[in-house]
This record gives sequence, structure tokens and C-alpha cells, in this order.
Amino acid sequence: MSVIHYFSKDPDKRAKFIFNLIAPLYSKFDKSLQKGFKESVKKLDDKVVIAGKSVLDIGTGTGAWGAAINKLGPSHVTGIDFSEKMIQTARKKHPEINYKHIDAENLSEFPDNTFDIVTASFVLHGVKENKRRKLLEEMKRVSKKYVVLHDFMGKTPFTVKILEFLERSDYKHFKKNFCNELKSFFTSAEKIPARYGSGLYIAEK
Ligand SMILES: C[S@@+](CC[C@H](N)C(=O)[O-])C[C@H]1O[C@@H](n2cnc3c(N)ncnc32)[C@H](O)[C@@H]1O
Repeated sequence: MSVIHYFSKDPDKRAKFIFNLIAPLYSKFDKSLQKGFKESVKKLDDKVVIAGKSVLDIGTGTGAWGAAINKLGPSHVTGIDFSEKMIQTARKKHPEINYKHIDAENLSEFPDNTFDIVTASFVLHGVKENKRRKLLEEMKRVSKKYVVLHDFMGKTPFTVKILEFLERSDYKHFKKNFCNELKSFFTSAEKIPARYGSGLYIAEK
């Protein structure tokens, strides 16, 4: 994929270009990501018991969030991503998870209510509200009950702000409105702050 895709008006082309480009670098932070995710998965497990449950991780990237959840003993974790390089890296880093190279906007290969928990870590802030809605619709459809978003909450660290600017993400609007977006679409939605400007948004069908 050429550098021209960074300037594309199509946000998916731009995102695939960026994530294919940064996949090798992203995997270097795997250990620190896992460390940061530890507290969040613990908080998740306190609310929604993971042991024995089936989990789908949307935009799994290099697999760090899926791998952190996998430590809590789910029946299985499936990770999907539309960046080929991210999935290739994930397969090497965390072979304990099943992976599929597909777009989360179309999960038609999974029937309704396939997974106990459908999750996404640091994916939904990256897209505009209309796209977010499409992703949430598919996540809700394939989930039996819970949709769990691990994403920005509270104060965003300065270095992350620069990365989000380069990614042209929607993180500011996301932080302000996301819980209300969820409440308009799910029976309930709860916010649980964690560390490093992140937190959990737990929605129930
Ligand atoms: C910031 S990374 C987060 C990776 C991982 N979840 C984590 O927390 O470390 C966002 C990931 O979402 C993926 N992604 C974004 N939109 C997607 C879509 N529509 N379908 C599948 N993957 C998507 C990107 O390719 C990228 O790997």
C-alpha cells in the first residue's frame, strides 16, 4: 500500500495504511501494553466473569488486549482485524488466540448471538460517529449480552494526543459523547475508569 493512502479521503484506506505501517513498532510495546491492560481486565472480570465465556476481540491489532483477556480463562478468544500486518504480528506474538483478517463492519460470517462478550480496545475512538454506529451494530448483533469497549476516558497523555492527531482520530468527541451514544443503543451502559487515561465502557443488550 502506497504512502498516498495516508492522504486518502477514505478513512478505512487511511487506517489500514497507518496500521500496516506501524505494526512492527506497535509489537515492540507489547509488554508495556500487557502491563497497562492488566488492571483493566481485572476490573472487567470483577463486573463480567470471563472464565468459560467466548470472546470476540474487534480490531485486535497485535493481540495484546485479547491475550490479556485470555489469561482470565475464557473458553476461547477470537481476534479480528482489517490490517494484514497487525494480524500477522498478532499470530506470532499471541498464538493462543484464533485470528481472522476481516473488517468489523461486516461480521456476516458470525450468526447473531455467537459470542458471550464482544470487545474492542482502542478502536472506536478512531472512527467518526456514523462509522462507530455501524461497528456497534455488528458488535451488538453477534454478542449474546455484553459489548465491552476499552478506550480513552479522562485525561489523555500528551504523547498520545500527538499520535491521535496524526491518526486524525475522533478521540475528543468520543470522550465527551461515547457513553451517551451507548446509552441510546443498549439497555444499559456503565463507565469504569482505569489507568493512563483509559477505562471500560460496559454495555448490555
Ligand atoms: C489502536 S489499534 C488497537 C489494537 C489493540 N486492540 C490494542 O488495544 O492494542 C486499532 C486497531 O483496530 C483495527 N481496526 C480499525 N478499524 C477496523 C475495522 N473496521 N475492522 C477491523 N479492524 C479495524 C486497526 O487495524 C488496528 O489494528
